[in-house]
Amino acid sequence: MELDFAPMEGVTSYLYRNLHAESFPGVSRYYAPFIAPNGSGRFKGSALRDILPENNRDIDLVPQVLCNTAEAFLAVSRELRAMGYGEVNLNAGCPSSTVVPKHKGAGMLSDLESLDNFLAEVFSRCELKVSVKTRMGLNSTAEFPAILKIYNKYPISELIVHARDRAGMYKSKPDLKAFAASVPNCRATVSYNGNVVGLAEYEKLRASVPGLSRMMLGRGAVTDPALFRRIHGGAALEKDELRIFLSKLEAAFLAAGLGEHFTLARLKELWYYVIWKFPGAEREQKAINKSRTLADYRSAVSALFASGLYDAEAVFRG
Ligand SMILES: Cc1cc2nc3c(=O)[nH]c(=O)nc-3n(C[C@H](O)[C@H](O)[C@H](O)COP(=O)(O)O)c2cc1C
Repeated sequence: MELDFAPMEGVTSYLYRNLHAESFPGVSRYYAPFIAPNGSGRFKGSALRDILPENNRDIDLVPQVLCNTAEAFLAVSRELRAMGYGEVNLNAGCPSSTVVPKHKGAGMLSDLESLDNFLAEVFSRCELKVSVKTRMGLNSTAEFPAILKIYNKYPISELIVHARDRAGMYKSKPDLKAFAASVPNCRATVSYNGNVVGLAEYEKLRASVPGLSRMMLGRGAVTDPALFRRIHGGAALEKDELRIFLSKLEAAFLAAGLGEHFTLARLKELWYYVIWKFPGAEREQKAINKSRTLADYRSAVSALFASGLYDAEAVFRG
């Protein structure tokens, strides 16, 4: 099984990805959080920094684009090609209420004729392989057969299916039944995404979708950065590995010039996921969230690691 690391904006930045790859084996490809170009394909310096090849030397990275015009998508793709990338991923899954009404992300699924036109233009002109990360519908996963009919018209290099509709945001139960039923009808290679947070979910999926060769892991892997290794038959995450990983990440943020305030903000964002490895640590979590300085943060984290609450088998349940 090929296991990929999902893009998570604000979490899996290049600093995170590099340290993760150095610390934990088992990821086939990392997907970069979306680049959101304007109509003419221009995008922020921070998004550029995140995908620059010199910032992603030792990992296999697939950049992702979130936009609603083929022109913008193609303009970014040209830049990616010039940087040496061979593939670009289209975001057709972002459920945010600031994105969907603009017919971007999962909003692309609201008008299948526009989606078809977008893909026709992209596939007639893009010189990179194009993969798609999609939801199974806007309001229902029952929309997927009609969406798939459109996708099947094009040589999509890989279709990553987040097995929820947009309405389910990140909360609803992934629709494994609808996913499994659709796999034989997909022309593209399929990757599954959604709530693979531990070995149990992985095994269940393998049993219910025979022949599946790829999965993408997000929140569960941020909670447990050794999840890829574990699924591949390796050891469970040790408490000390986690401690060292987080402290190296803090050092990497500071070394990259993030400063105390932003370093703290990034680390707190991570702890939203990592805290699941410490069941019952509400009091310690509060102390981490309340910390205003890195010194306070470090002492809150030390107290948590000393608490005895760490559970190597605990998984993300948010
Ligand atoms: C904080 C956050 C940021 C995300 N950013 C992106 C993104 O930039 N691009 C994308 O395609 N999906 C993004 N996602 C969705 C994840 O890639 C993934 O599809 C989703 O979390 C479900 O997989 P999981 O259950 O393994 O986490 C994001 C999710 C979260 C929670």
